Parts: sequence; structure tokens; C-alpha cells
Amino acid sequence: MLAKGIFISLEGIDGSGKSTLHQVIRQSLLTEYKVISVREPGGTFISEKIRELLLDIKNQGIAPETEAILYAAARAQLIKEIIAPALGHDNIVIADRFMDSTIAYQGFGRGLDLKFLHELNDLCTGGLKPDLTLLLDITPEEAQKRKAKERPDRLEKEGIGFQKKVRQGYLRLAAEDAVRIKIITAREQEAVQKEALQYIKGLIAARWG
Ligand SMILES: Nc1ncnc2c1ncn2[C@@H]1O[C@H](COP(=O)(O)OP(=O)(O)O)[C@@H](O)[C@H]1O
Ligand SMILES: [Mg+2]
Repeated sequence: MLAKGIFISLEGIDGSGKSTLHQVIRQSLLTEYKVISVREPGGTFISEKIRELLLDIKNQGIAPETEAILYAAARAQLIKEIIAPALGHDNIVIADRFMDSTIAYQGFGRGLDLKFLHELNDLCTGGLKPDLTLLLDITPEEAQKRKAKERPDRLEKEGIGFQKKVRQGYLRLAAEDAVRIKIITAREQEAVQKEALQYIKGLIAARWG
């Protein structure tokens, strides 16, 4: 009998391979488990509205504080409507971005106060944290090459300097919480997948036996 759901988040700068890995993990786990996939910001009616605001290339004037609070608002709604109920029903929840994005982007990227952001995160999540966070680590240059053909959204237009700060922020978070956050170095898809699934299978075995 499964006692409680498992919560996995995927983090990393744009182009690090989160969406690609998400699909693979999802397909692999679906054969044996109930899997709920969510992406940030979004996933509920209200959160998708907030996503449109945040990613719209026309909204260049958005203040860093506004941005941080909007992300947090979208997250709070996603937890209430989707993540918490799914975990209560023994699902594996895979989130494409979660609270670490707030620290990496709005904290290290935009320079907002880290204490404020941690408190904002705690307020919105009610203390809920992923059991496992896979951080896909890649240089911004390499990520940009991968995404060269795609049309950039508002945040992706920030450029290499911004992405470098975000990457360093992620690495700092991983160093501070090495138990939860596992760094996966960007390389060929097969190796990334294998490493990710090893971490996930390890967690499932530890939790559900
Ligand atoms: N391991 C990999 N090696 C090379 N290219 C990759 C790899 N993983 C993803 N890609 C490609 O890089 C681009 C960005 O990947 P994506 O999964 O959309 O990243 P993210 O969701 O983190 O922005 C896509 O075009 C994808 O096909
Ligand atoms: Mg993606």
C-alpha cells in the first residue's frame, strides 16, 4: 500500500533540457505508477493567466518584485488545486520548475533579497518541498546553441549574463541542500536520462520499498 506521494522537481536554465527529460521520465514511470505532470508558471486556470502575463514579450516593464510575487501566486494556486491533492492520492508529481526557480531567477538573477524570497516561497508552499530536485546544469552558451532555432520568450531574451547569474544561483542552492538537489551535468540525452532515472528509482525504493 502506497502511503504518500512522491514529489520531484526539475530545475535548470532555459535550454537545459527540463521539458525533454520530463517527457522521458513521465513515460518511464507511467507504466508502473500514477504520474501527474505540472509546469511553472501554470497548470491551473488562474496560474496559466499569470503565465501569460509573465512570459509575454510585451511586458518588459514588469518590476522584479511584481515578477517574484506573480510567480509565487501561480505556485500557490498550483499547489492548492493540483500538487497537494495529487500527493495525497499517492501520485508521483513531476514539476517543471518549482520554488528553486524563484531563488535562482528573482534572487540571483534579478538581485532581490534572498530572505524575502525564501519567506515568500514558504508562505506560498506552506513548507511543501520536493522530495527530489534534479538540477540540469549547462553553460548558458551551450543552452543558447540548443535553443537557437526557437523563438525566445521574455525571460529567455535576458541574455547570457543573466543566465550565468541564474546558473550560479542554482549551483549555490545545490551546494546548500545536496540531499534534495542532485546536479545532472548536461550531456547526451541517454546519459542524462539514465542518471535521472537512477535518482528517481532510488527515491521510490526508499519511500515505497
Ligand atoms: N541532452 C540533450 N542534448 C542535446 N540537446 C538537447 C538535450 N536535451 C534537450 N535538448 C534540446 O535542447 C532544446 C531545449 O530543451 P528543453 O527540454 O526544451 O529545455 P528546457 O525545457 O529546460 O528549456 C530542445 O531543442 C531539445 O530538443
Ligand atoms: Mg521547458
